[in-house]
Amino acid sequence: MHNNKEILRNNEEIRRLLVGDKMSLYDQLGGEGTISQVVADFYDRVSTHEVTSKWFVKVDPDTLRHHLRTYLAVALGGPELYSGRSMRNAHGPLKITTEAFDTMLRCFAEAFDGLGVPATMSTQVNARLNSLRAVVVTSHRA
Ligand code: HEM
Repeated sequence: MHNNKEILRNNEEIRRLLVGDKMSLYDQLGGEGTISQVVADFYDRVSTHEVTSKWFVKVDPDTLRHHLRTYLAVALGGPELYSGRSMRNAHGPLKITTEAFDTMLRCFAEAFDGLGVPATMSTQVNARLNSLRAVVVTSHRA
């Protein structure tokens, strides 16, 4: 049985040996520190925005921020482990609209922009998150 530390070490070895020095988006952004800041800023925006706030009234912000941080890190090529649900299971019952999804992407872009991340990079992050649209958006009313 491998423990988490060993799993991470093995993952790092694969990256070192096979991925080489091609920098992941995670590293280009500045790693864990930048992602934490982006998620904190993003969460403030999305949980107070008139289009999206209603979805966040009953959630526990600390738990969701933690899951968002690790999800984003893994999605951008970072070494973290995401331990939350699949995107389909987490969002399936929430009847999320296209408008809410677009607002969320804009909140991410604004958070990156506010931290001085170049638009060339936040555009790539958005493109990656945009590929989740079909799974996350389940209300086809708007
Ligand atoms: C690319 C888009 C998105 C990503 C990457 C994402 C990511 C996540 C993650 C990682 C979780 C945690 C899952 C867990 O706790 O097991 C989550 C939960 C949640 N997301 Fe999203 N999300 C996205 C879009 C949206 C949108 C557009 C909304 C609504 C406006 C939304 C509302 C929520 C809510 C309310 C929860 C908490 C659900 C619960 O605790 O039952 N998400 N999301």
